[in-house]
Formats: sequence, structure tokens, C-alpha cells
Amino acid sequence: MHVPASLLSLLCLLCSTRLASVQAIANGDKSIDIQRLLENHASWTQLPDNKLAVLVGYHVIYSWPGPMLPQRLLHLAKAGKVGGVIIFGENVNENLPSQIQSLQDAYANGEVARLPGGPTESAKDIGSSAHPAKAAASAGVVAADACRAYNVNGNLAPVIDVYRTENDFDDQCSRSYSTDPSIVNRCGSAFISSQQSHGVLATAKHFPGLGAASSSENTDLGPVTLNVPLAQLRSIDEVPFKGAIAQGVSILMPSWAVYPAFDPDRPAGLSRRWIQSELRGRLKFESVTISDAIEAGALENYGSNATRAVTAVEAGMDIALASGRDVSQGKSVLDGLVAAIKAGEVSSADFAASTKRIVALRSRL
Ligand SMILES: *[C@@H]1O[C@H](CO)[C@@H](O)[C@H](O)[C@H]1NC(C)=O
Repeated sequence: MHVPASLLSLLCLLCSTRLASVQAIANGDKSIDIQRLLENHASWTQLPDNKLAVLVGYHVIYSWPGPMLPQRLLHLAKAGKVGGVIIFGENVNENLPSQIQSLQDAYANGEVARLPGGPTESAKDIGSSAHPAKAAASAGVVAADACRAYNVNGNLAPVIDVYRTENDFDDQCSRSYSTDPSIVNRCGSAFISSQQSHGVLATAKHFPGLGAASSSENTDLGPVTLNVPLAQLRSIDEVPFKGAIAQGVSILMPSWAVYPAFDPDRPAGLSRRWIQSELRGRLKFESVTISDAIEAGALENYGSNATRAVTAVEAGMDIALASGRDVSQGKSVLDGLVAAIKAGEVSSADFAASTKRIVALRSRL
């Protein structure tokens, strides 16, 4: 997400105080044994939709508009169909008026939303400081503390794109640490390691890198094609991702840009080549992948929200981010995935492996 007013920053895998009742209800439903389901994936097509939906629910992050948690989301969670939520400033409750204001201001200012008490320096400030890795490590601790204060267990940060020129897409919000891949690598790794060691999952984004995007190439708004030679993608853009993976980053978000040098047909987050061959195969990433916003303009030629999520999962993505602040969007993604599994469009063996990665991630929370 890159539109200032809708920048996402926080992720909660069904675990936040304000959702405590939701969590208790979802976890309280012992009638569905996920482990058993995972071991018996050959029989999934015979399962009733409601049961399959609980499994699929692990793969769907929902969002809602405004300060009120919709009843519908509570019901869906009660039914075990919600894997997590992404929290936007507009969702922060009325007990925190000053924080809401700060969040809204942060959005309006075109910055990644910051929780009150969160890091105050931009990535660019950190990357250009005297001791970048040290500054990034402190920012990671501050971010973790701010998330934990809200009982939020994941953060859709850091951006580890390597920007190219002044005021290009990543630089216009000062959200890239540097034009130097080794500085981005050191900062990204330091941020990830300190945030995660303080109990908050980190998300490295946007693989293989949006650093080459010009100021107008915004995947939120429309299709973006980055004509960067593969050698350059690997020697510049992927450097911090290798570092993040070596550092044990929990979540990785591929970009919605198309990189013709490696896959001319699909945005990275919908591409088997990027997800399977490069990320899982060559770079040996074993943890969880999350999509960028399913409603992004970059995917305008890829059908409905549900179709996009199915295409992403077919490419090997683990979690679909339904961040349109609309519970129906998450529900349509969930229903689309259930139908695709039933129809045998999505391999149940692959989906079971994917669910296991999410289960493993949640068990560390
Ligand atoms: C996807 O969901 C969002 C949020 O509900 C909606 O605004 C958008 O129109 C949907 N996109 C498509 C292609 O259906």
C-alpha cells in the first residue's frame, strides 16, 4: 500500500486486546482439529464448506472501516474464518483520541502510519545517520514497544527497497533507507532483529524491490512494470532481502510490480516464478508470505478480489491481505479460496504446507 492516506502498518494475527473476545471465541471452537485436517488434505474436497473455511481463514487478513468493530467481523471470527486483521488509524478506539489524531496526521502527511510513541525518524533519516544500523536497531525496539502497547503482534515493516534517485517512488516518503544496498541491508537486518527480539513480527517488503520505481509508478494506483535487468535486481534490490532472510524475518511481502527480466507475465506477488523459483527455491525463504493489498490498482486486469487471491495462492502465496476496510472483501476472498480448493484449482497439498507455515508462525506469538 503506498497511498499516503491508506498506508498500512500493523498486522494482528488474531491477537489483540480489543479483539480478545474474538480470539477467545475463535480458539474456543475445538470442534475443528486443524492438525488433523492438515494431515488429511486429500479429503478436503469432501469437507463441508464451513469446515474448510476455518482452514482457509488462516490465510485471510481482514480490515474494517472506522472505529467500530463490525458485528459481521465478530461473527466471522466466531466461526473461525478470520486469520487476522490489519489495523488502520481509523480503527483505533475512542479511548485514544490523541493517538487517533497522530495516526490521522501521520497518514495525511504521507508517512507510514506511526503509532504514538513509535519511531519518529524516517527510514531515510536512519540510513543517512552516523550509525545507520544502530539507529535502525533502536527504531525496531521503539516500533515493537508501540505495537505491543496495542497488543499488536506484527508490523508490516521494514521497507527494504533500495531507492535509486531523489524523490522517486520510495524516496518521496523517505521510506527507503538508502540508495546503497549494503546500508539498506544493514538497517533492514538490524530493524528486523531488534523488533522481532522484542516480540513483534517483522515484514520485509516489497520483494524483489520497488526501489527502481519512479515517483508515478505506484502499484496502489495502477499496473507498474519495472524494466530492471535481472543482474541488477539480484546485485542491488535482492541484497537486503537475502539479509532479511538470513536474519530470520517472519513475513515477506512481494511487490505488485511486473519485472519482465524474470517474469514478463505476472506481478511478482502473483508469479510462481518469483515466489517458487526465486524466493523459496533460490533464496531459501521458508517462512510466511503475505500479499500486498488485494484491492491494489496494479491488479486491475486480474479480476475480482477473490480471483486475485486465488491466483496469488496458486502462485504459492500464503496470506491474502484484504485491506480495503470492508469486511465483505475479506469474506469474498475467503469464499473464493474455499471454492477454488473444492474445485481442485488450488492443490490441497500445497495449501496444507502453506497453512502449516502460518500455524508455525502463530505458535511463536
Ligand atoms: C475489492 O474490494 C474493495 C473493497 O471492498 C472494493 O472497493 C473493490 O471494488 C473490489 N475490487 C474488485 C475488482 O472487485
